[in-house]
Amino acid sequence: MGIPENLIMVIFGASGDLTIRKLLPALFELYCRDMVPEGFGILGTGRTPLDDASFRKKAMEGPLLERNNVPECKGKLESFLQHLHYLSLDPFNETEYVLLRERLLDLDFRYNVSGNYIFYLATPPELYHVIPENLASQRLNQAPGNPAERKIVIEKPFGMDLDSARELNRYIRQFFDEKQIYRIDHYLGKETVQNLLVTRFSNGIFEPLWNRNYIDKVEITAAENLGVENRGSYYDKAGALRDMVQNHLLQLTGIIAMEPPSSMDAEAIRSEIAKVFGSIKRYREEEIEKNVIRGQYVSSFIRGNPVKGYREEPLVDPDSRTETFVALKMYIDNWRWAGVPFYIRTGKRMPTRVTEAVIYFRAAPMALFTGEEQNLIMRHNQLILRIQPDEGILVKFGMKVPGAGFRVKEVNMDFHYKDLSDIRLPDAYERLLYDCMMGDATLYTRGDTLEAAWKFIDPVLAYWKNNPDAKLYGYPAGTWGPEEVNSLFDSPDESWRYPCRNLSDSDNFCEL
Ligand code: BG6
Repeated sequence: MGIPENLIMVIFGASGDLTIRKLLPALFELYCRDMVPEGFGILGTGRTPLDDASFRKKAMEGPLLERNNVPECKGKLESFLQHLHYLSLDPFNETEYVLLRERLLDLDFRYNVSGNYIFYLATPPELYHVIPENLASQRLNQAPGNPAERKIVIEKPFGMDLDSARELNRYIRQFFDEKQIYRIDHYLGKETVQNLLVTRFSNGIFEPLWNRNYIDKVEITAAENLGVENRGSYYDKAGALRDMVQNHLLQLTGIIAMEPPSSMDAEAIRSEIAKVFGSIKRYREEEIEKNVIRGQYVSSFIRGNPVKGYREEPLVDPDSRTETFVALKMYIDNWRWAGVPFYIRTGKRMPTRVTEAVIYFRAAPMALFTGEEQNLIMRHNQLILRIQPDEGILVKFGMKVPGAGFRVKEVNMDFHYKDLSDIRLPDAYERLLYDCMMGDATLYTRGDTLEAAWKFIDPVLAYWKNNPDAKLYGYPAGTWGPEEVNSLFDSPDESWRYPCRNLSDSDNFCEL
């Protein structure tokens, strides 16, 4: 594992939640593991008036102290904090970027960086239109003479629909080349998502089966037990389709469905994902109600405690028609997947927090063993790829019940990451920040892929917008979404998997 070149990471929105809860703790972990260069400065900026000392104090409001207790980090917090600096700056005000340039010159000298900077936009999306231009006004977008390119990291949401995403791509590319732009999708930073690539492409047993000849359907679930918390004003404009499907869940689908890349090179992998997105069948207007079910949670009781409905949440319009749940059926029209339905569902206030993909294999060609349970197994040989929690892999298949006759029972064969006691699963941001420092964009979304994902989502958003009466089902908080969601399946015998918190738990005992 290499060590990045000396660098300064400039974080816009440095006193915000994302920086304090995610970015600084991830950078601290990298620091503890000697994965940052010796010359390494972090310059926080934002409108909140702070100086270096008060920024360092603010940083401690996040989980930094907890991390300080892990063995690699013991005693390193104080020295890490010394790398943190702060500049109060109104990001809208172009003239203040002179101060940024000056401060960077100072820190550049101190850390011996020779112009190697990363600009991280941990800000509301309104600023994605201002910061790149203002950086360019001070020529901070280029590093003449330094082979390491300046990079700009952009958080989601990247656009609110196809037009705005295209426009944003065009706009940023005036100041930064595509290869300088790192669009974050933190799902790609998850260890278990990357493991999908390894599972598929390092094993001989799965790949021959990984196609329409052997796979019946694919089901992807990202359920969350929390509601919208304090993010009502953002979420009410976004909704589940934009918030989770357009980015995280389509990326996951891309990795599950892609062809083997020619190498592990960023462009090779991202081009394969782009091809998948290009092959997703877009819905015609009249197909939308049938293939996309949306819902919104209503007040209920969870384990005896009253829980608010979405419309009662702070900063949410009391008449809101924003979906907090969406489930859809889609097809990837290519040689490998033609005719195989991909079912995707995500929602807030569901019974548990779980993300997983289930590959359902086709039934054996003939039913030799009769009986109800056997029929079920024949339809449902499953490979479950658990992204979180209880990260791991489970195969469900039929075994003979010992004794007379041929009774078949469904059994599990499982692997849990937690059984590898010496392995720690790094946080997604650790991996992504490190990759960006190393100039590796494999796990970042490329501009064309992002637009292709919007192309699929856009007709649905337009349909909902143009048809205010389009169906929006209520579901009680703490349930698996509206009942109508089963209408997506072709057969009334089919249903979704209802996962438990622990990967191998069965329906008889399900801890949520
Ligand atoms: C974010 C969404 O991108 O992902 C949130 O904006 C969602 O609404 C979160 O809760 C889920 O991420 P994770 O890593 O907790 O599954």
